[in-house]
Amino acid sequence: MSQQPPVRNKISITHLRDMKANGERIACLTAYDATFGRVLDEAGVEVILVGDSLGMVMQGHDSTLPVTVSDMIYHSANVRRGVDRAMLMTDMPYMSYAQPEQALSTAARIMSEGRAQMVKLEGGGWVADTVRLLTERGIPVCGHLGLQPQSIHRLGGYRVQGRDTESARQIREDARVLADAGAVMLLLECVPRSLAAEITHALSIPVIGIGAGSDCDGQILVLHDMLGIGFSHRFTRDFMQGGRSITEAIERYARAVKSREFPAHEHGFD
Ligand code: KIV
Repeated sequence: MSQQPPVRNKISITHLRDMKANGERIACLTAYDATFGRVLDEAGVEVILVGDSLGMVMQGHDSTLPVTVSDMIYHSANVRRGVDRAMLMTDMPYMSYAQPEQALSTAARIMSEGRAQMVKLEGGGWVADTVRLLTERGIPVCGHLGLQPQSIHRLGGYRVQGRDTESARQIREDARVLADAGAVMLLLECVPRSLAAEITHALSIPVIGIGAGSDCDGQILVLHDMLGIGFSHRFTRDFMQGGRSITEAIERYARAVKSREFPAHEHGFD
């Protein structure tokens, strides 16, 4: 009798919520093309983000600001062709969601033309009405707090956020407001471990961290950084080190997130 391949259920929001409830870590990575979409999917990565980091990684810009809606749709639709099981999340680029109605038309294009299953947008309380509107129209939204690269000129650099009492209070409050507005997931970028842990425990939605310590429900890295060909930050690890192939490095990343071996203490911030 021939052996059947294991059934690979498609990842849904319910699945991600159950993973949080069961204490199972969610492995996420960015991808920008169909081939890497397939490799990540086969490696067991649950959420694939078509990040606006493509402005730096793919296009060679020094920030994410020049990325357009058309760029996001182009890369999202390409990644989609490689992905079968993972959830595909795509970034709303700079100034494409400055007003709720504008956000709705951008998100609708990313979902229908880019074939995403969830959109991600940066911002705190000011995007709550947008999150509510998109949610009411059936578009799942992931919030993005802490270091928000689209606000780099206001922030004055790529720095850890939420280190002082007032900014930590603001991030905590923004996280609650986004979840109340209907966000189904939250990404925390470069915030102290203790703040990320507190928010993760306080919210019922999955919280994904990057430079946010090991207590989040899941972890994400920019693909090229974890392959050792992008930026080298304190919060990344080069998974190609000691490995034989890209596929193996991505599998090792997914395993390390799930076994809580990555991120280690040294990848986080006080
Ligand atoms: O655009 C991106 O790649 C991101 C990172 C935080 C993963 O948003």
